[in-house]
Amino acid sequence: MSILVNGIRIAYSDVGAGSPIVFVHGFPLNRTMWRPQVEALSSGHRVVTIDLRGHGESDAPLWRYRVEEFADDVAAVLDHLGLAQVVLAGLSMGGYVAFAFARRHRGRLRGLVLADTRAPADTDEGRAGRFRMAQAAQTNGASAVADAMLPKLLAPISLQSRPELVSHVRAMIETMRVSGIAGDLMAMADRPESVSLLPTLHCPTLVVVGEDDQATPVADARFMAERLPRARLAVIPQAGHLPNLEQPELFNRTLREFLATLTS
Ligand code: MLT
Repeated sequence: MSILVNGIRIAYSDVGAGSPIVFVHGFPLNRTMWRPQVEALSSGHRVVTIDLRGHGESDAPLWRYRVEEFADDVAAVLDHLGLAQVVLAGLSMGGYVAFAFARRHRGRLRGLVLADTRAPADTDEGRAGRFRMAQAAQTNGASAVADAMLPKLLAPISLQSRPELVSHVRAMIETMRVSGIAGDLMAMADRPESVSLLPTLHCPTLVVVGEDDQATPVADARFMAERLPRARLAVIPQAGHLPNLEQPELFNRTLREFLATLTS
């Protein structure tokens, strides 16, 4: 399914019935990364997964992207589906989008799941790395980004023992258009810091992270959990930056337990 938002086609899936949970993927992935969560949760929840602009089946306009724009795209999908309030789950870049959503559409948040993400803005060094990755994508295509990203996304044990998972993640990256990759990198490089936002977020929040996450380590998750008024922290063993795919049963159980704490 898809809708037009400001001339851009945004694709999404909407499965199940019950209290809604909306998932926003990370860079450079798409909504299929939430397949195990759709399967596990849609018997008791309405599960919405969205391809951000630049990703999956959404359009990938050639222009600068912004996290605020991603957040407004998510809000437009919720408007279209008639969802006034949701639990919003964002992984990594999806977490940056969740912060932007909280700044712009706070009243729509019933709860938050911040997975493998971080609150500070990029450092100058981090921004320089974004620039280099955009040039690598432009020169050598999305497979160069896949080569660089795979060891950062998956724990060594997943890389060694889960060939089907490695193929899925590689395929998500390799099917990205360069306009989407560059747009994401600019959005992430330009995003504002969200550290000062944390103490103001009063909705129940699950902070979850893979124990072996190299990109946004456990310390980043602990930093957020310590500053959020109503956070619980869960560390998923034997998982890297994508614990929802690397340890789906544990991740889903953690998510279910959190969702059960939210009174309807
Ligand atoms: C992601 O997984 O979305 C990215 O690694 C986030 C980032 O590069 O900051």
